[in-house]
Amino acid sequence: GKGAAMVTAVAYRLTDQARQIQETLAEFRLSKSQLLEVKKRMRVEIERGLKKESHKEATVKMLPTFVRSTPDGTENGDFLALDLGGTNFRVLLVKIRSGKRRTVEMHNKIYAIPIEVMQGTGEELFDHIVHCISDFLDYMGMKSARLPLGFTFSFPCHQTSLDAGILVTWTKGFKATDCEGEDVVELLRDAIKRKEEFELDVVAIVNDTVGTMMTCAYEEPTCEVGLIAGTGSNACYMEEMKNIETVEGTQGRMCVNMEWGAFGDNGCLDDIRTKYDQAVDENSLNEGKQRYEKMCSGMYLGEIVRQILIDLTKRGFLFRGQISETLKTRGIFETKFLSQIESDRLALLQVRAILQQLGLDSTCDDSIIVKEVCGTVSRRAAQICGAGMAAVVDKIRENRGLDHLDITVGVDGTLYKLHPHFSRIFHQTVKELAPKCDVTFLLSEDGSGKGAALITAVGCRQRELDAQ
Ligand code: GLC
Repeated sequence: GKGAAMVTAVAYRLTDQARQIQETLAEFRLSKSQLLEVKKRMRVEIERGLKKESHKEATVKMLPTFVRSTPDGTENGDFLALDLGGTNFRVLLVKIRSGKRRTVEMHNKIYAIPIEVMQGTGEELFDHIVHCISDFLDYMGMKSARLPLGFTFSFPCHQTSLDAGILVTWTKGFKATDCEGEDVVELLRDAIKRKEEFELDVVAIVNDTVGTMMTCAYEEPTCEVGLIAGTGSNACYMEEMKNIETVEGTQGRMCVNMEWGAFGDNGCLDDIRTKYDQAVDENSLNEGKQRYEKMCSGMYLGEIVRQILIDLTKRGFLFRGQISETLKTRGIFETKFLSQIESDRLALLQVRAILQQLGLDSTCDDSIIVKEVCGTVSRRAAQICGAGMAAVVDKIRENRGLDHLDITVGVDGTLYKLHPHFSRIFHQTVKELAPKCDVTFLLSEDGSGKGAALITAVGCRQRELDAQ
């Protein structure tokens, strides 16, 4: 009768709704052949970045770092390190001792960088940094020491030596004026002079990927790749000098900061980017830039999720069709929330509690859908990041003319460390897409601080040799 027809209608609406949600998410589910295509395109962009004639237009910049070897254990001394561009800004004192019992002792303090400083003038930003260094030196009682300093500055820099780096462009949440096109080491030195309180010897500017690789290489010499899967996404590796056409010389190797976050900025990933990825890009501080990073790093995953949830709500599939103020707020889904929502130990009731905490009133069905959306977005992130890494390790294998390569990758970053599934899916993808490589992943303990100090130590030693 009529009742049965109504039940059928409701059931139909539900299955139709489920089908539409699945259709929406299907775009994020990449096949193996699509991932192999991502790997292949990354390889093409790597070559463009390395070659002299294509370097200028290349999106994946392949920036030389002037780090020519991994540590050998003879590094020694006391160093100051700065870490700018990750989740926190920190100042560190690192004491490295060589000899039979090698030790590294670290002291550090975290400082906040208010958003108005991140997006104010360059002078304000560097004055703030020097203010924090001053506080730290007071705290350690070391103001008169003139320590050598390594500056981990996790943005793309054009380096012409270990201690010179011109900022190519800001990425992630930074947008301070008058810095792009400037040598960041000079900006720091100028700010130290303005303060007139202490002296420092700025020896090296270091990308966080390079610091991570060096830290891991200190323990494990087969580590010749560094990866950050955190707020941003990027990798570095030891490339043959003869392949780096943008630097003089053909002997030995040099670490290259890939800046792979910009992969896709020439449109080469457009076929896998969804309308949600485009919306995230349009809403960002740097539209059109860092397109790969916007698909696979912690700063943006929550934003992709939010765009999907807004769309599903508009279509009446979620939150009773009501778009709350919370859902309209940029940045609500931080990596730590996504990680909680996707944790398998959490019952659905707890997922609802997290959403509640964020100010989202959900039904049980809502929480199931939200969890599935998060899982789909983070899986794609891990997979495309894995496809990029597969391209890198295969390139190294070919460089060395090997049928099989054993290699270690040093890794850091909140997404990799906190997320319950990212690292597993990432590892699995690398294995599948680069079957001729056996890749070991090593978690870096404080790569940005320790790595910067190790590079500074090598830099100091080199300078002494050059002076002789
Ligand atoms: C961004 C930066 C890059 C850094 C990465 C991870 O992609 O441009 O230099 O390594 O974030 O922090």
